[in-house]
Amino acid sequence: MKKKVIAVNRLEQEVLEMLEDEVDVTFFSGIHSIENDKFVKTLHDADGIIGLALQVNDKLLDLAPNVKIFSNVSVGYNNLDIDALTKRNIMATNTPGVLNETVADTIFGLLIATARRIPELDHYVKARKWKNDLTSDYYGTDVHHKTIGIIGMGRIGEAIANRAHHGFHMNVLYHNRNRKPEAEATFNATYKELDALLRESDFIVLMTPLSPETEGMIGAREFSLMKETAIFINGSRGQTIVEKDLIAALRNKQIAAAGLDVFEKEPVEDDNPLLDMPNVVTLPHIGSSTYATELAMSKLACDNLLAGLRGEKPPHLINEAVWKDS
Ligand code: GLV
Repeated sequence: MKKKVIAVNRLEQEVLEMLEDEVDVTFFSGIHSIENDKFVKTLHDADGIIGLALQVNDKLLDLAPNVKIFSNVSVGYNNLDIDALTKRNIMATNTPGVLNETVADTIFGLLIATARRIPELDHYVKARKWKNDLTSDYYGTDVHHKTIGIIGMGRIGEAIANRAHHGFHMNVLYHNRNRKPEAEATFNATYKELDALLRESDFIVLMTPLSPETEGMIGAREFSLMKETAIFINGSRGQTIVEKDLIAALRNKQIAAAGLDVFEKEPVEDDNPLLDMPNVVTLPHIGSSTYATELAMSKLACDNLLAGLRGEKPPHLINEAVWKDS
């Protein structure tokens, strides 16, 4: 009998069709909690789940007694309670690697757009307001030869450092759990303690994964250490910063501007004050979303899922302990 799989929220159609050749798939979209009877009923018999953007915790796991594997279509897995999964001997997988360059492009695009005020000026031109010579009111900030501080020097951080060093001749600072000698050599990057990085950088780019250790790591104290001219970019998760403190720092002109791909609540709420600030450039959590990269992530997640369901070790198993114990 074919295994039963739930595809939820995020999986490219092409990969969904491939999956259907091997397993019985039920697709659900718009599921962000377990308040859906049909979803809960299907969960009861499912062997595996792919896609996600859904919080997986004990409450959900109690409703999914047969699931062997949760296959996230994302590199970040803060939606998965890894301890709870491991205790129940359930595999968790993610999709690292294939998105690094794409996310780095997005983050660099956001950085340049914020520094050079591209969305604001695009609006100015299209609103037919460009009638006279421009004054300094419309000027932006240089990116080239400035100092960038990258917090979280993983593979995506390194792809950002590569662009900064080789493309824009920037001075690269970084902060990470471990020193990265190879990145130091390749991008002439300098390791800094967090406070020093915040004080010295013109652009602060937050890329760290969300975990209990990084939750709220950039708040009022950290914003107060930044230069008044600093531009803050968040490509990590909304919860790695204290969003109300970012709002205050922008209002009080403690920092100059921000570029945000992520928010505390997603989709972002209509009354979020960040949406009314001209010096804030926003994106809808779209860092990895080019067609090619979404497809590659979906395929990788599908490989992970099928390997797990066959009893093989998935290529990107997060909770290795499950495998060692089995
Ligand atoms: C995107 O945010 C991801 O974690 O892949």
